[in-house]
Amino acid sequence: MINVGIAGSTGYTGIELVHLLQRHPHAQIVWITSENSAGKPLSEVHAVPWNYTLITLEEAYGRATEVDVVFLCLPHGQSITAARTFAEAGLAVIDLSADFRLDSADAYRRWYGLEHTAPELLGCFVYGLCEVNRERLRGARLVAVPGCYPTTVNLGLYPLAKAGWLGERVIVDSKSGVSGAGRTAKLPYLFVEANENMTPYNIGYRHRHIAEMELVLNGVAPNGGCHFTFSPHLLPANRGILSTMYVRVPAGVTETQIRNLYAEAYAGEPFIHLLPAGQQATLRHTVYTNRCAISITADHPGDPACRDFIIVCTEDNLIKGASGQAIQCMNIAFGLDETAGLL
Ligand SMILES: NC(=O)c1ccc[n+]([C@@H]2O[C@H](COP(=O)([O-])OP(=O)(O)OC[C@H]3O[C@@H](n4cnc5c(N)ncnc54)[C@H](OP(=O)(O)O)[C@@H]3O)[C@@H](O)[C@H]2O)c1
Repeated sequence: MINVGIAGSTGYTGIELVHLLQRHPHAQIVWITSENSAGKPLSEVHAVPWNYTLITLEEAYGRATEVDVVFLCLPHGQSITAARTFAEAGLAVIDLSADFRLDSADAYRRWYGLEHTAPELLGCFVYGLCEVNRERLRGARLVAVPGCYPTTVNLGLYPLAKAGWLGERVIVDSKSGVSGAGRTAKLPYLFVEANENMTPYNIGYRHRHIAEMELVLNGVAPNGGCHFTFSPHLLPANRGILSTMYVRVPAGVTETQIRNLYAEAYAGEPFIHLLPAGQQATLRHTVYTNRCAISITADHPGDPACRDFIIVCTEDNLIKGASGQAIQCMNIAFGLDETAGLL
């Protein structure tokens, strides 16, 4: 059995991990943390039947040796010290925040407005996009779990980027359920503000998650990469992300070639659901699962010269976009069946 600690268990990703780990055949929870509710049973903070007693992060540092792996479900900026402390204690660290996703302190400052206090560790973390980085994840001790939006965009576009078919510009229109913002009481996330409404935010070249799209997709593009116009929206639903991506492929590339490219790239992937022509990926395909659903549509169906395609990719932001993907990373890193606890 792998013994697990969860730092930040009372947030949305943390409680999702608690749920998912209950049915994991090879992992068990040993301790879980909260600062605001330390000393209380988890069942007093969330509507769950499990009475794990919440401890502070400081107490968890003292109990580090009781676990093999710690999941950090903390706000960005708060994971850095925790990651270093647990790594020095010899634990595997799987960080769900953005603190170790980017490749330099400069990039972290540019997108997150913070000085990185452990820049020497940045290069030690494996970016946990399992379908892309599986080989690097095997045996990994430090994993940075990708952001929720970038998981849809990167998985939705990776085959095209790798083939050099992404073009100079991609328009990404994404919608996220309100849980994407965390369990926080801010005005835009109140029921009356969010319900029956749809709000774009951080549109233009602003949203922090663009950095991960550039890293992954421009990182593999043989032709220098592209510019991402990214428009995220707050969707009045609890969970789920739907990203609609508009791409122009090189002249001569056909819809059949694109479908074959995706089929080959994702052959045998347990958590990628490629939809057949004529069907669209929806939130229902993926909410409450660890899957991504991907659909491909020509802008002018039947026109062999059509170069414009619309890729839709959906996921559950708390599962494939966070805690499920984190468990998938753990499974690969520890040499377990990749799907353990996730089907
Ligand atoms: N929500 C998503 O869809 C999603 C998806 C992918 C990645 N992420 C990332 O995953 C991380 C967690 O997200 P979330 O949505 O679960 O956040 P959340 O709901 O706001 O939960 C944050 C958790 O961190 C704890 N915490 C807050 N400040 C802390 C501090 N200074 N020291 C120690 N613990 C502290 C909170 O504990 P108490 O309040 O109980 O003290 C709570 O358990 C974030 O970095 C987020 O960007 C989120």
